[in-house]
Amino acid sequence: MIDKIVVMIGPPGAGKGTQARQLAEHYHIPQISTGDILREMARLETKLGLELKTIMASGELVSDEVLASVIQTRTTQPDCIGGYILDGYPRTPSQARTLEKLARGQGKDVRLVSVEISRDALMRRLTGRRTCSKCGEIYNIYFRPTRQEGQCDLCSGELTHRADDKEETVGTRLTAYEQKTAPLIQYFREIGRLVGVNGERPVAEVFTEICAALEN
Ligand code: AP5
Repeated sequence: MIDKIVVMIGPPGAGKGTQARQLAEHYHIPQISTGDILREMARLETKLGLELKTIMASGELVSDEVLASVIQTRTTQPDCIGGYILDGYPRTPSQARTLEKLARGQGKDVRLVSVEISRDALMRRLTGRRTCSKCGEIYNIYFRPTRQEGQCDLCSGELTHRADDKEETVGTRLTAYEQKTAPLIQYFREIGRLVGVNGERPVAEVFTEICAALEN
């Protein structure tokens, strides 16, 4: 355990989820993916779920109010006591303020990891991504194919293609990132808690660099 709040920040497809899953296993702390939580809420098809489904399919961001409630509920679970990894949160200035307040209340330091990648590399990563519907393992038909087509190597679950990984939606997601989230990177860099890593290298190399940064 590292008793910190680790924030993975970066554009869609940078590899935040891939790295967060490995960090969670390595440090024995939970990975909290707001995208996964929201997709699960959307699947329930309640009134809120249906609203979330529409917003997420369009590539826009879900409201700060919904996110505040999601984060407050999830990070106060007992498994978060020794630290946790936030994958995809915060993404707006309001979310950053909520996190700072939360961290103060929980007495934890926040470390941010910005996974950097060029726009060109993102499209293949997103259009090629496949995710296991059972265990959440992330694959890619170009960079990390499964042994059996359409089937997870770990649990034999069926692989799915995310609804928001279509080329036209990716454009909206990138714009949302550039307008709302990227300015936060500068803010956190100025207060000295952010480390940038080059996400265009093999997964294992990126992972080693992140661990080194978190442990010093
Ligand atoms: P979310 O699910 O968080 O999506 P995202 O931020 O767009 O990020 P991705 O999951 O697409 O990419 P990733 O960086 O995790 O990459 P991955 O590791 O999978 O959010 C979805 C939606 O939910 C948002 O659009 C919004 O509507 C809503 N939402 C979520 N959080 C919100 C918030 N805080 N506020 C408001 N709305 C919110 O990797 C991608 C692919 O690349 C995979 O195929 C992988 O195998 C491959 N890959 C990874 N690393 C490498 C590598 N080093 N080399 C080669 N291939 C690699």
